[in-house]
Amino acid sequence: MTAASDTVSYEIVGDVGLICLENPPVNAASASLRAGIVAALQALEIEVSAIGIYGAGRAFIAGADIKEFGQPQADPILPEVCLAVENCAVPVVAIVHGPTLGGGLEVAMSCHARIALPSLRAGLPEVLLGIIPGAGGTQRGPRLMGVRNTLDLATTGRHVKADEALALGLVDRLDEGAPRDVALRAAQEVIAGRLATRRTAEIIVKADRTVLNEFASALRAKQAHLFSPHKAVEAVAFASGDFAHGMQREREIFQECIQSPQRAGLIHAFFAERAVGKYPEMGATPREVAEVGVVGGGTMGAGIATACLLAGLKVVLLEMNVDALDRARATITGNLDGAVKRGKMSAEARDAALGELLKLSTKYPDFSACDMIIEAVFEDMTVKKQVFRNLNLHAKPGAILATNTSYLDVDEVAKATARPESVIGLHFFSPAHVMKLLEIVVGAHTAPEVVATGFALAKKLRKIAVRAGVCDGFIGNRILNHYRKVADYLIMDGASPAQVDAAVRGFGFAMGPFQVMDLAGLDIGWATRKRLAPTRPAEERYVEIADRVCENGWFGRKAGRGYYDYPDGTPNADVLQIIETERAKAGITPCDFSDQEIVERYMTAMVCEAVRILEDGIAQRPIDIDAVQLFGYGFPRHHGGPLHYADSIGLAEIVARAERYASEDAHYWQVPRLLRELADTGGSFAELNQAAG
Ligand code: CAA
Repeated sequence: MTAASDTVSYEIVGDVGLICLENPPVNAASASLRAGIVAALQALEIEVSAIGIYGAGRAFIAGADIKEFGQPQADPILPEVCLAVENCAVPVVAIVHGPTLGGGLEVAMSCHARIALPSLRAGLPEVLLGIIPGAGGTQRGPRLMGVRNTLDLATTGRHVKADEALALGLVDRLDEGAPRDVALRAAQEVIAGRLATRRTAEIIVKADRTVLNEFASALRAKQAHLFSPHKAVEAVAFASGDFAHGMQREREIFQECIQSPQRAGLIHAFFAERAVGKYPEMGATPREVAEVGVVGGGTMGAGIATACLLAGLKVVLLEMNVDALDRARATITGNLDGAVKRGKMSAEARDAALGELLKLSTKYPDFSACDMIIEAVFEDMTVKKQVFRNLNLHAKPGAILATNTSYLDVDEVAKATARPESVIGLHFFSPAHVMKLLEIVVGAHTAPEVVATGFALAKKLRKIAVRAGVCDGFIGNRILNHYRKVADYLIMDGASPAQVDAAVRGFGFAMGPFQVMDLAGLDIGWATRKRLAPTRPAEERYVEIADRVCENGWFGRKAGRGYYDYPDGTPNADVLQIIETERAKAGITPCDFSDQEIVERYMTAMVCEAVRILEDGIAQRPIDIDAVQLFGYGFPRHHGGPLHYADSIGLAEIVARAERYASEDAHYWQVPRLLRELADTGGSFAELNQAAG
């Protein structure tokens, strides 16, 4: 093997040249990989009759190196690499396996033939990062698999497996074996004339306006707020013309996307998902978890049980009586039926989960074999402590005792046991078998291996876990409680709930705060407000509208009424009446808020509380808070999370807004110390993330 660069090596076997790509973990097309490919091609094309190119490790090439985006690119850039491959003096065959995505698929498309191994996952996921394929994907894609298929892959970012790639025309043949062996065999077949090769750029594409229009209008209807999917369609439209011209247009459009703030937000979200997996206790060895106990079979308990069953874990679910157990079983069955319908589970696996993995019980001693027990009972400290006293008596030594509280003090719960080191908070989000986020709440005495076990469980359940410290509401609900107040202030001062919701949707959230409250149930927030009433500071402005709504029993969707009437979801006129009455009582003359003003106040409130959470050490890094909002609260991915958003508009601007609003309410709109410091010194949350590693 001869090194062409740090990450690329080549060898000559008879009249075949083999190029091996090795840039762990996923062979991202870094500067070294790009330069290495070109150098290896130059060295080989004068020596051999055909070349096979393959990836070592788990991927062919998982795409451009995302870490380089937004920075100046070292030569050769990926389109040049693709051109060098396509113009190579001898045929080049790509052996594609594992993730072959974005720029990786574009390198493969530039080769003269492609052979897929069974592990192939091919795709053009650039739109998920706010860009478009920038190395010929929009031009070579249509030449190999047609305009429709290219648009499908390039606008959805979906991955295709080997057999579908073959059906699409993306690869020429399927094979099995070690990538190097297949590469050698394939190149020999090319030389022997048994594997046909061609130059992709020379294939003619028929202009297909109908398909282009179909995709363009579907995107306008569904993803009007996004930038890059529309741009992908624009680029693909050039594929039916001159190849070089199409490549040039693709490059220009790609650069436009690179400059867009959406690109920065989406890439931040990509790294947030991965960054949260790094936490202080990650060196500890997790305890083994094969059997999980769940206390409580309501929506949350049944959802947690479902998530565990979907991951193949044994579950013991405890309820007070047989009727409650019947209801829990029905909920779990419904959840699993849904998973079967969505193709997440086979019907046989569902039957096995219900028949063999799930055990229902009314007795604590049935938890004796459980490695972890998750409590999901009513949100009340007295009730939770009673449950934990029982768990302390019946759980085996070393079992982890987890509370699924959304707000309550995990350390206080732990006091009900003689083993606080084994107690942890696992805050699931409803529906627990669907929602991605899991807050891992670490108490004062929680042992490192218990924290590590929480993260390991999250991985098994395919969830994104974020470490949080103990405070009322942890990361997510503490922020929610804060910005919910600003939503109340806005309706008290002049906006309607529907206007606030529409403005927030306009920012990119799927739902506004009042719609979310209706969905979650207004009684939950009501109970929290009552619980916190004794500790509410005297200076805090308190809006009573939500209490009046709850006093009428309008708890949202489940009650048929809330801020909206259901099932049609029109504004509840009686709530508008309540708002008017409350305003009159407080002597408020309603003012007009623009949608922009609503969003600015809403976001500023969110950012301020997020910063206080950082100051208090409840979250380790800004990116953890962004992840909580992105994966648990529907924060629009293209804005990257509240603290990325704050960076993107400038911290001085956030401070200026808060100071402006403080003239109306100095208590609520206090500027957090850290925010002011960063704004004054030109710092950013991105720098804090970097410093934290
Ligand atoms: N660039 C840089 N780093 C990457 C990367 C990329 N394209 N893809 C993955 N990584 C890194 C991850 O950040 C992670 O790093 P850490 O271990 O330090 O956190 C590591 O590789 C492993 O990744 P995952 O944890 O995600 O592993 P996985 O097995 O769950 O998933 C994957 C593997 C399917 C490749 C997934 O990482 C993925 O989807 N990556 C992004 C692929 C992509 O979007 N490619 C297109 C890039 S854009 C492009 O190519 C533009 C162009 O045309 C020029």
